[in-house]
Amino acid sequence: MNLVRFSPRELTRANTLGLPCVAERFSAPGSLAELQASLIEARERGWPLTLLGGGSNLILPPRLAGLVVQPAMANWWQEEGEEDSVRIHAEAGVNWHELVMALAARDLWGTENLALIPGRCGAAPIQNIGAYGVELADVLEAVEVVHLADGSVSRLSPEACRFGYRDSVFKGAMAGRVVITRLVLRLSRRAQPRLGYGDLASRTGASPTALEVAEAVCAIRREKLPDPAQLGNAGSFFKNPQVTSGLAKRLLAEHPDMPHFPQPDGRIKLAAGWLIDQCGLKGWREGHFGVHDRQALVLVHFGGGSATELLAFADRVAGRVAERFGVELEREPRLARGQAPR
Ligand code: EPU
Repeated sequence: MNLVRFSPRELTRANTLGLPCVAERFSAPGSLAELQASLIEARERGWPLTLLGGGSNLILPPRLAGLVVQPAMANWWQEEGEEDSVRIHAEAGVNWHELVMALAARDLWGTENLALIPGRCGAAPIQNIGAYGVELADVLEAVEVVHLADGSVSRLSPEACRFGYRDSVFKGAMAGRVVITRLVLRLSRRAQPRLGYGDLASRTGASPTALEVAEAVCAIRREKLPDPAQLGNAGSFFKNPQVTSGLAKRLLAEHPDMPHFPQPDGRIKLAAGWLIDQCGLKGWREGHFGVHDRQALVLVHFGGGSATELLAFADRVAGRVAERFGVELEREPRLARGQAPR
């Protein structure tokens, strides 16, 4: 039975970079059954499949062949846990920031530092969203997925998700094999402010509410990061690189003020924004793209550009950093291309 109708869809406004894109076919399933029906149909007809969330960490080509599926199930609910803990179930289509603010308003602790991150819940585990000293992995209890191969549903533990810095199994072994349908988060009723990152502590009182922390995070982000509704962008365009201690030592000898963060594995994480900034590229514009003038880690689209131009521009930025510091930058947003059925 064909439960879903597919029609072409203009996706220019469905990606925060504002890149022009037309999907050959599009479906926004509002239930698990509709999602499964879309996946079965794509598989039976041999259509390449692209999954779309909030489109905030994605680079779209001008045309996407096959079927684009944007899960639209958007309910969330609360379940009491043991002692002070509370379990939150959030479906893939729930807007992440709206959920965070609603939880903070209930004075539930755990996600408040992740306020104003664009996108939907279903995409959050893919890059293990993180900001101000907190990552999704810190509050995640489980991820529910549908397997593309047979439409079956399963629940993954945080260990099975293999979370790392801006990384997970959904970028690796499970890429193109599952659709994330639901998150289960564990939050706490007990106040546990994490204010150690940057100037967060100076913006909140001594014992803030979760909502006050979330609002302080929003204020910091608004000062530094461009609003995609006004200027196309995908947040940080590069990951912060992790280099050997030898390379970090050599760079620090020359630049003693370079931000650097030792990692448990002995490597040193550097700030890609600082490296780009030091190359004098903050505010640099070429054609339709530029380096944001308040945060060099963010590339912006002034309109009229394409994915190909953006990738060429990003290569030039990364090339300058490699030339000057000998550090390779890795792209953060993923490139969308219809995945052949497997
Ligand atoms: N810096 C500069 N110039 C710049 C940008 C940064 O000198 O143009 C310096 C800062 O002064 C600071 C250091 O670099 O010493 C780090 O900067 P910041 O605290 O702004 O954080 P970031 O490393 O640039 C990361 C995340 C952000 C997240 C912030 C806050 C990545 C790739 N980015 O940025 O995440 O909001 O920390 O936790 O890890 C995103 O992923 O889209 C994103 C915005």
